[in-house]
Amino acid sequence: MTLLVENITKAYGGQVVVDHASLRVDTGGMVGLIGPNGAGKSTFFSLVTGFIEGEGGAMTLDDRAIGSLSPQARAQAGMVRTFQVPREYTHLTVRENLMAAAPGQAGDSLLNVFFRPGRVAEEEKALAIRVEEAIAFLRLGAVADTPAGMLSGGQKKLVELGRALMTGAKLILLDEPFAGVNPVLIEELSERIRELNARGIAFLIIEHDLGALSRLVPMLYVMDRGRIIASGAPADVLADPLVREAYLGGTT
Ligand SMILES: Nc1ncnc2c1ncn2[C@@H]1O[C@H](COP(=O)(O)OP(=O)(O)OP(=O)(O)O)[C@@H](O)[C@H]1O
Ligand SMILES: [Mg+2]
Repeated sequence: MTLLVENITKAYGGQVVVDHASLRVDTGGMVGLIGPNGAGKSTFFSLVTGFIEGEGGAMTLDDRAIGSLSPQARAQAGMVRTFQVPREYTHLTVRENLMAAAPGQAGDSLLNVFFRPGRVAEEEKALAIRVEEAIAFLRLGAVADTPAGMLSGGQKKLVELGRALMTGAKLILLDEPFAGVNPVLIEELSERIRELNARGIAFLIIEHDLGALSRLVPMLYVMDRGRIIASGAPADVLADPLVREAYLGGTT
């Protein structure tokens, strides 16, 4: 699934925060998006996933225009995001959080519950199996019955990833997956992402931990004041004087 973003723009009260930004993630790709605080990275994710509306530009998933689709429709098309601040249901357990993330179950319709109980039961069984697989894959077994609100920052990031996986997405946008996560868990999280990527899931990852991100992705884009100012292999991009200046100068 190829994501192509061309010239998207967003202004808040006359202040342009995403400025004609373009980017591409190829099928099964692994791409990073970096930039100083306030550069517009999270806003870029919100535009791409349809949580906010921009001005102009074009976005396609496998050549299909997605610019006017709702976030749900974009998720159905195969692209989902996580949030910089995890949005798990704090009172639900880890297992319940993963259950709730699966889209369009037959049991969601009361009519099906009455008239097609067999189908509902079958789907629930299949869903339960997928949830247990995700829990095992993410090593969340020990906390599967713990309310998500009680987890550590790193565990919450794993649940966020699990919720994205439950949608069956082919492209997952991660907003700062390593923020507030201890170094050991960062390496584990990176390994899980690598394994998922090997299974064909593409990732676009915003991250301030440039070391960990550079070990994970072969391709980086740099955003500064809403504009993409550089892209390429991490070593080249991080050595680019323009990029160094953007980080040293700061924008906030
Ligand atoms: N809803 C909003 N209303 C007004 N301004 C906003 C809104 N959301 C974001 N901004 C502004 O847009 C700019 C970009 O914010 P954004 O959160 O996209 O940056 P970021 O690159 O994700 O930063 P960080 O690395 O700190 O998360 C900031 O100046 C921010 O204050
Ligand atoms: Mg952000």
